[in-house]
Amino acid sequence: MMQLPLIDTFGRLHNNLRISVTDRCNIRCFYCMPAEDVVFMDRQDLLTFEEIERFVRLVVPLGITELRLTGGEPLVRRDLDKLVQMLAAIPGITDIGLTTNGLLLADQAEALHAAGLRRINISLDALDPVKFKQFTRREGYEQVRAGIAAAQRVGFDPIKINAVSVRGMTEDEIVPFGHFARETGIEVRFIEYMPLDADNAWERNKVLYAQEIIDRLSADVMPLEPVGDQDPHAPASDFAFADGVGRIGFISSISQPFCMSCNRLRITADGKLRNCLFSMEETDLRTLLRSDAPDEQLWTAVRASVAAKKEGHEINTARFVQPLRPMYSIGG
Ligand code: 5AD
Ligand code: SF4
Repeated sequence: MMQLPLIDTFGRLHNNLRISVTDRCNIRCFYCMPAEDVVFMDRQDLLTFEEIERFVRLVVPLGITELRLTGGEPLVRRDLDKLVQMLAAIPGITDIGLTTNGLLLADQAEALHAAGLRRINISLDALDPVKFKQFTRREGYEQVRAGIAAAQRVGFDPIKINAVSVRGMTEDEIVPFGHFARETGIEVRFIEYMPLDADNAWERNKVLYAQEIIDRLSADVMPLEPVGDQDPHAPASDFAFADGVGRIGFISSISQPFCMSCNRLRITADGKLRNCLFSMEETDLRTLLRSDAPDEQLWTAVRASVAAKKEGHEINTARFVQPLRPMYSIGG
């Protein structure tokens, strides 16, 4: 039976759940993980596929229709295609996406597609292999390119590339990414570097802003024009080159926060519900899922989390405090 939807105190309707399936990763992007000595969650602390499935079934009557699987790197979780299959079978779930770094994608693309996955975002911060390694602190460029090729071959649609935009690093990648978008038909999305790195090294002057990238692409590739008819809840604003060939998106979390149109909740791999990437509090659902808590008790916990959601991330205020969990342990 349908219940009251998940509307917070600012009128935002929540229909999108991001599910982190592991905090482990096979690379070490500097804006996310420490270079060495990462302490990962104990395996018994991770929600099982059955626990994830039960939780999703439980939130569908609250209005959740869209899911995205994230990590860490979700493809290091064994048999992820099985989870996709379980989630795709849930009535009321209309849309499942995956955000991956692509290293293991060539091996898994076919199984994931067969399991019902269609939307895929692949993180790739640079088209230059040397620059790639400066971002990721590991090898893997060729594997990611093979993963992208496999995703195209198998027929994922849409495929999007996520590139974190960092001042002093991303500038030389802008024009090559513009040409890449035009040649492949894959949308490239630039994401402003956010203060979610494990090293706590984020500084405002390290963010390369969307407008600077728009100006550069417009001058050196072709003028960019905003695409009409965009999903008001998508964090990216989409542009196309003037001749209609090639799409570029911008996730301007710092220069133009989109918190007021946020429709997302997140569950971490260890079963904590978060109402925001930047929230300081989380709700322990794992304990409820592992006790004999009835559905009503889980619903109450989810509603309380939504009700407590803050207006926005406050990065642009003096009050901002970086959350204790870095990106890899929240799920992007
Ligand atoms: N700032 C911006 N984007 C980030 N991501 C990870 N950490 C950060 C950060 N500090 C991105 C990854 C991936 C997605 C899950 O989030 O590049 O594409
Ligand atoms: Fe791994 Fe993604 Fe974090 Fe990079 S951003 S270290 S790929 S979890």
